[in-house]
Amino acid sequence: MTYEQAKANWQASNPPRHYLSITDLNPHTAQAVLELAHAMKRATRKGQELFRFARPTGLAMIFEKPSLRTRVTLEVGLYQMGAHGVYLTQSDIQMGKREAVMDIARNLGRWVQGVIARVFLHTALEELARFSEVPVINALSDREHPCQALADLMTVQEWKGAQPLTLAWVGDGNNVCHSFTLLAALLGHRMRIATPEGYAPDDAILQQAQAFAAQSGGSIELLHDPRAAVADADVVYTDVWVSMGYETEREARMRKFLPFQLNEELLRLAKPDAMVLHCLPARRGEEITDAVLDGAQSAVWDQAENRLHTQKALIALMLG
Ligand code: CP
Ligand code: NVA
Repeated sequence: MTYEQAKANWQASNPPRHYLSITDLNPHTAQAVLELAHAMKRATRKGQELFRFARPTGLAMIFEKPSLRTRVTLEVGLYQMGAHGVYLTQSDIQMGKREAVMDIARNLGRWVQGVIARVFLHTALEELARFSEVPVINALSDREHPCQALADLMTVQEWKGAQPLTLAWVGDGNNVCHSFTLLAALLGHRMRIATPEGYAPDDAILQQAQAFAAQSGGSIELLHDPRAAVADADVVYTDVWVSMGYETEREARMRKFLPFQLNEELLRLAKPDAMVLHCLPARRGEEITDAVLDGAQSAVWDQAENRLHTQKALIALMLG
C-alpha cells in the first residue's frame, strides 16, 4: 500500500471533513486509514516515511486534560511528516472562558491547517468544527476517543488478522468503549459489553453501533456479567473505572466495579490465545492486575505504539 493508493481509496469513499466520532467513517474510509497505518509502521521502523507534507503545515493541539500517549504520538508523528503541532493547554487558551469557542475556531483557521482537541465536553468539539475553516480531529472527549479506536483495531488486525472476532469489553461504558464498539461494529466484529448496572454505554451510541452491525454482519450484546462477556472471547479490553472528569464519583465507582477487574481468573475464561487491550493509562491493581497487564497475552504496548501510526495515517489522509 502506497500513500497515493490509500489516498485514492479515501477520496473515493465519501471522506469526512472533520473526525469527531467513529460515525464520521464508513467501512472503506476506516479500512483506508488502517491499511495506510500498517504500511507507515513498516516504513517508519525502517527509518523511512511514506508521506511528507509538500507545503509548510501547522496544526493546533488543544488539550483541556492531561495526556502522555496522544500528545507524544501527535507531536512526533507530525514532526516525522514534516508538519508542526502547537501544544495549547487549557491554562493557555481557557476555551470558553478567556475566549468563546467559536472565536478560537475562527482565529485558528487563519493560521493552521488543522485543529486537534482533547476536551471535557463533546459539544465544544462540535462547536469548534462548526466554526472552523480547517479540519477538526477529536483527541478525546467525554463521549468518544476515535483516534484510540483506530489504534485498537490496528492492533487486533496485527495479532489476529482481519477476520471477524469476538471482542469483550469489561468495565465502564465510557468514551473509549463508545469508539471501540462503533469501530468494531463497522468492521463486522461480534462485540460483548459487560458493565455494572448504570454504567452501560450511551443509548444513542448503541443504536448507531447496532445499525453498523446490521450492515457489516457484526453484533452487539449488552451484559452485566463480566464472565459471560469474556467466555471464549478473542480479545478482552478494559479501561479505568474513573475517567478524567469523573473524579468525584471515585468512591461509588470503586465499589460497583470491583467484580469487573480484569485478572488472571477472568482472563482464563477467554480463548487460550486471547489478547488483552487497555488504552492506558492503567490503574494497576484496580481495573487490571499486574499479571494480566505484564503477561504474554497483553498487547497494550503494541496498542500504544499504534497510536503513532494510525494518527499519522489519519492526518495524512485528511490533510495531505
Ligand atoms: N490512551 C490515551 O489517550 O492516553 P493519554 O491520555 O496518555 O493520551
Ligand atoms: N476513559 C479514559 C481514557 C483515557 C485515555 C478517560 O477518559 O480518562
